[in-house]
Amino acid sequence: MPPEQGRCTCLVAGPWCGEALRRYLKDNQLLLSGSRPLKKYSPIRTMLPVFPVRGAVDATAVRDTFLQICEGVVEVVETSCEAREKWEPPISFTVVGDVAIISLSEEIRGREKEVAEELLRNVRGIRAVYGKEVTEGEYRVQRLVHLAGEIIEVTEYREHGLVYHVPLGKVYINPRLSAEHYRIASQVAPGEVVLDMFAGIGGFSLLISALGRAELVVANDANPWAVSAMLDSIKLNKKKLKTPILVLNMDAKELPRVLRPVFTRIIMNLPHSSTEFLDTAHRLCSPQGCIIHVYVVARTREEALNLVPGSISATRVLDYAPRKFIYRVDVAAEGRGDE
Ligand SMILES: C[S@@+](CC[C@H](N)C(=O)[O-])C[C@H]1O[C@@H](n2cnc3c(N)ncnc32)[C@H](O)[C@@H]1O
Repeated sequence: MPPEQGRCTCLVAGPWCGEALRRYLKDNQLLLSGSRPLKKYSPIRTMLPVFPVRGAVDATAVRDTFLQICEGVVEVVETSCEAREKWEPPISFTVVGDVAIISLSEEIRGREKEVAEELLRNVRGIRAVYGKEVTEGEYRVQRLVHLAGEIIEVTEYREHGLVYHVPLGKVYINPRLSAEHYRIASQVAPGEVVLDMFAGIGGFSLLISALGRAELVVANDANPWAVSAMLDSIKLNKKKLKTPILVLNMDAKELPRVLRPVFTRIIMNLPHSSTEFLDTAHRLCSPQGCIIHVYVVARTREEALNLVPGSISATRVLDYAPRKFIYRVDVAAEGRGDE
């Protein structure tokens, strides 16, 4: 689409709504790419994100539709826009809150700082660039090195209208799981009791709670930093969360010591070793049965299905390494009752 100059119609997202509105506009091809509003929108003190929409779009109708998805205020404003030069990022990167993270691969060896400075100049809303050396250890945390901008220890990451505290380098975080969080949360039926065995900072658990259909969510993680961040996020999103969340900081293998077999849905998002915890999950399944979502690393769908006894389907969720993927394998398990 060619860049547009002059007047343009924009949607302004309210607090907590920016990422959700951007995604909605992009997914529905309503975003006017190649244009940038000249003014930022500041109703009181906070600068709110402004998104130019395509000329033919009925912005008021979009606003009305969007208000049902996210409760933040969305305004329609007329402002002037300038054409934005198309910038091709020198490398792929992820943005977590106000931080961009790049992989320190062979591809940029020797020019890490230069690439980081370029990102800092061109990516809107970031204040720092970090390089990821590896994702390591039991807690699956990123080993990060600072490359450009400010030193940031904790950032706020927004997903589906919720905000998460992220202590960088201390917890697992992957914005590419955002769609998967929504896919699973939207499957939860009224009255379900959900166990998020490896909850991390709570991407599945908080969204399930916000949708409000479950009766209870138990969110567990062995990493105390992840649990502490999740508790912070529960406080931050207090007004949006509906289902109570019970947060535990335990080795998942120990969960049957403190939990009864009441769960109708169990999420096992620890792709490297989730299958080692399958027996634990079966022991916590409700007597009426449960759905277990097991994440595994595999080359093909068949390989993923074979890794998990009782599997009914396998869905590719993320790329992992060359020719390796993360699959979600779903299991419809029968309850074993209280053993
Ligand atoms: C892939 S991350 C989970 C990501 C999270 N579900 C999300 O959607 O962002 C795996 C998590 O499992 C946790 N973990 C690893 N071993 C564990 C264990 N034995 N018991 C409980 N949690 C564990 C790690 O600390 C890490 O936060």
